[in-house]
Amino acid sequence: MTTADGRRALGLGTPGETRARLNGLVLAGRKRATTRLASVYRDHGEPVETPGDQVVLVDDDGARVATVEVQRVEVTRFADVSWELADAEGDGFTALEDWRRGHRDSWREQGFDVADDTEVVLVWFRLVRGQQTLAIHAGQDPDAATGAVTVPIYATSTYAQDAVGVLRTGLGTGYDYSRSGNPTRTALQECLAAMEGGRHGFTFASGMAAEDTLIRALLRPGDHVLIPDDAYGGTYRLFDAVMARWGVRHTPVALDDLGQVTAAFTDRTRLLWVETPTNPLLTVADVRALADEAHRRGVTVVVDNTFATPALQRPLSLGADVVLHSTTKYLAGHSDVVGGALVVDDDGLADRLGFHQNAMGAVNGPFDAFLTLRGVRTLGVRMDRHCDNAEAVVDLLVDHPRVDSVLYPGLPGHRGHDVAGRQMSRFGAMVSFTVRGGADAAATVCSRTRLFTLAESLGGVESLIELPGQMTHASVHGSPLEVPANLVRLSVGIETITDLIDDLRWALRE
Ligand SMILES: Cc1ncc(COP(=O)(O)O)c(C=O)c1O
Repeated sequence: MTTADGRRALGLGTPGETRARLNGLVLAGRKRATTRLASVYRDHGEPVETPGDQVVLVDDDGARVATVEVQRVEVTRFADVSWELADAEGDGFTALEDWRRGHRDSWREQGFDVADDTEVVLVWFRLVRGQQTLAIHAGQDPDAATGAVTVPIYATSTYAQDAVGVLRTGLGTGYDYSRSGNPTRTALQECLAAMEGGRHGFTFASGMAAEDTLIRALLRPGDHVLIPDDAYGGTYRLFDAVMARWGVRHTPVALDDLGQVTAAFTDRTRLLWVETPTNPLLTVADVRALADEAHRRGVTVVVDNTFATPALQRPLSLGADVVLHSTTKYLAGHSDVVGGALVVDDDGLADRLGFHQNAMGAVNGPFDAFLTLRGVRTLGVRMDRHCDNAEAVVDLLVDHPRVDSVLYPGLPGHRGHDVAGRQMSRFGAMVSFTVRGGADAAATVCSRTRLFTLAESLGGVESLIELPGQMTHASVHGSPLEVPANLVRLSVGIETITDLIDDLRWALRE
């Protein structure tokens, strides 16, 4: 095949793959949502692709097949393609020699002889899919053994090996022990990675387990971290009461004040911890601006994306290095499972996190991974409804005589409204407000609702109400992160909105 610019190009692939043309070059990519390597044989000329390019793939008849985003481009001699690269292509070869022979044969059939010094362009690309498509398909190919269309719960601690050290292939990378890897967990990890736009996902027994693993993977005694001055109480407690004893220091800063953040970096700062919007004050941080400042100093940026979820905000695309989740919340979405996740794009970070995930062992079990994945599949429609309902609740609260102030990034008067408008597609469904009359009046409101359940946590389909000062954020009492005593936090669910409004009106009566 000859391309428009005279280059000869060949796609590589196996049956079931999408063969298509990228900037005139024929590529092959599996019908999966994860990153794949495509190889292109060329006669001359520089690669026309550059990372970040989004390209529509068409088939030989010119019909649109998919959109891909180019991740990485490398030119190398055919003989220099390493097993790591060949394997990344995902073609199912089990040895480098087979890979070379397979491709030489297939190219020869198409009229091209490939010598050892023939130049090959290696293009890594990621299929660009809509968020809801990723939620339902990424990492969730029908089960290889049975064809089951939902990911099975692989309730096993260990796996038969074909010979000493020879692991089965076909369900992924091979499994030997479920702390190290489990196919149900792999499905969830791949799905979350794809939704966040990263190449590597890791899931854990809880959001706090994810935080602990991240911190111990990246930091050592003497290192310093900047954390939000209204961080989730459990995050603050982890740094203040646990990590401090291991010599990791932290400074709380107002992340929506770039000057304050810039002044707080020290030469030992290794990590900038961002939460946006924050729990429970709904402060918004400008991820891109913060990442620029941090990266200038060689500081890694983690964003806790629990409140927004990838349905509304994708921190990696804004420059963050790590995305963190309490999957307990919106991702799982039904208040029936506790879990956490980390997503990164960088291979080096992924190696460290993968090592620590296994070495520390705070993994989620297969049933928890299954429940979380089942929730994730409906994230998009749930978030739409959550946001609709939250906006209606905010309309009620802003005009209510018993409400002092309403904290919601969607309000034009909110300090972070413009930034949130730039980096979020909608403003989420967490709403906080202060009640006139102080802590007792706020506690009374919390005890009067009938549909909004008085409970900790958030992000489930049912509406919840709580008093952070005495509940979720009791651990920051007396600290710089203390929250107002009359602050009420709502997690607005997806019930019929008129019922929610009636419930709040009733609770807010004089
Ligand atoms: C923003 C945020 N991050 C992290 C966590 C910790 O997650 P988990 O409770 O799953 O350990 C929470 C829990 O409420 C949270 O709200």
